[in-house]
Amino acid sequence: MKIGVFDSGAGGLSVVKSLLASNLFDEVIYYGDTARVPYGPKDKNTIIRYSLEALEFFNNFDIDLLITACNTVSAYALPEMNAQSKYPVVGVIEAGVMALENSIVEKDDTILIIATRATISSKRYQESLEKLNYSHIIALQTGLFVPLVEEGIFEGEILEATMNHYFSNIEPPKAIILGCTHFPLIGDALQKYFDKKPLLIHSGEAIVEYLEAHYKLSIQKNRAELKIFASDNVAGLRKIAKYWLGT
Ligand code: DGL
Repeated sequence: MKIGVFDSGAGGLSVVKSLLASNLFDEVIYYGDTARVPYGPKDKNTIIRYSLEALEFFNNFDIDLLITACNTVSAYALPEMNAQSKYPVVGVIEAGVMALENSIVEKDDTILIIATRATISSKRYQESLEKLNYSHIIALQTGLFVPLVEEGIFEGEILEATMNHYFSNIEPPKAIILGCTHFPLIGDALQKYFDKKPLLIHSGEAIVEYLEAHYKLSIQKNRAELKIFASDNVAGLRKIAKYWLGT
């Protein structure tokens, strides 16, 4: 199976890491819209427009499935993308919700969703969880974490001050939905911040679980071949990939 992975920039490589580790695919074509990142503070119509433009990029490749690693894109652009593509376009939100449902977390436990402004404003996570009768949901826009991760800040004073800024008044959650591609990189810091180590829902692990449940996939002998493309500074993106994925 040859899959495409679309993200607003480099963050989606956190999802690629899980896809490669799964050994379920032959080839992974990654496209990061590095020229226009971040999508998180942008409006719905802009996010949809950029996402449809990304589909044009994937038309150059004969992919079987496209994964939108970006939560912001998954929140707003899936219906439009699916209406215009020949292959299924699958987002990470439904997958994250499924992963939470399959976890030990109970319906009355506190669930913290952290994501970009656009993802939280879309209410996609909140409404999906409410439908499943989760009763204690805290949804926070935590956009400041995005540039921190991009600066390589995964621990230390600045990150702690930012976590205090967002979390000082909330009750400790039983689970945190990492509703943004960048947040798995501060997963350890988030677990340390709260007294009782919350369970982390990671888009990459969740999408692998979701694809296994919904598609006929079999383990491949070799790790998938990864091809990386970007709308700007592809060399920079490939360097990050080397650092994050060791490829
Ligand atoms: N990839 C985005 C997401 O997962 C975060 C970065 C951005 O704002 O574009 O929501």
